[in-house]
Amino acid sequence: MRVVILFGSEMGTAEKVAEAIAEEMTGYEVSVSDMSEFDVTELDPRLFHIIVCSTYGEGDLPTGAEPLFEALDAHRPDLTGLRFAVFGLGDSVYDNTFNRGGEIAAAKLTALGGTQLGEHARHDASGETKPTAMARDWVHTLPLDSALAGA
Ligand SMILES: Cc1cc2nc3c(=O)[nH]c(=O)nc-3n(C[C@H](O)[C@H](O)[C@H](O)COP(=O)(O)O)c2cc1C
Repeated sequence: MRVVILFGSEMGTAEKVAEAIAEEMTGYEVSVSDMSEFDVTELDPRLFHIIVCSTYGEGDLPTGAEPLFEALDAHRPDLTGLRFAVFGLGDSVYDNTFNRGGEIAAAKLTALGGTQLGEHARHDASGETKPTAMARDWVHTLPLDSALAGA
């Protein structure tokens, strides 16, 4: 397994985005998992991870994603070498907390030694662009050769 796509979603948009990214990655070995069903011990620093995460509450992670990130805080695994990219989802009507979910995820992985690659995507549900269309373009901007070196 070379690319692990993890999604955190309340209403299903991030899941659709994760599936669209997987479809776009032809030629790669890809898995798609819901963060709510993903155990912290499954994080493998040798693999490239794509985090697809929406934002809820007052700039919080989606409810289903919280246990994974709470477990990261509790266990503090060494994620040195883990390379990841983030596609965040939010809505600019929440101007103070726009896209905070993906930013929280990136900060937590970085704090444990992970390295973020590529552009941090921030989809805006109030914008014109469909999240899956934006994600299909975004995935081709990722430095996949460098992300997958050694994976
Ligand atoms: C109750 C509620 C709270 C939200 N809070 C925020 C927020 O604080 N910041 C933000 O950028 N987007 C916020 N959003 C927008 C969602 O993150 C956005 O619609 C996203 O596309 C939903 O993805 P999902 O279907 O995967 O959950 C909120 C949406 C709802 C319904």
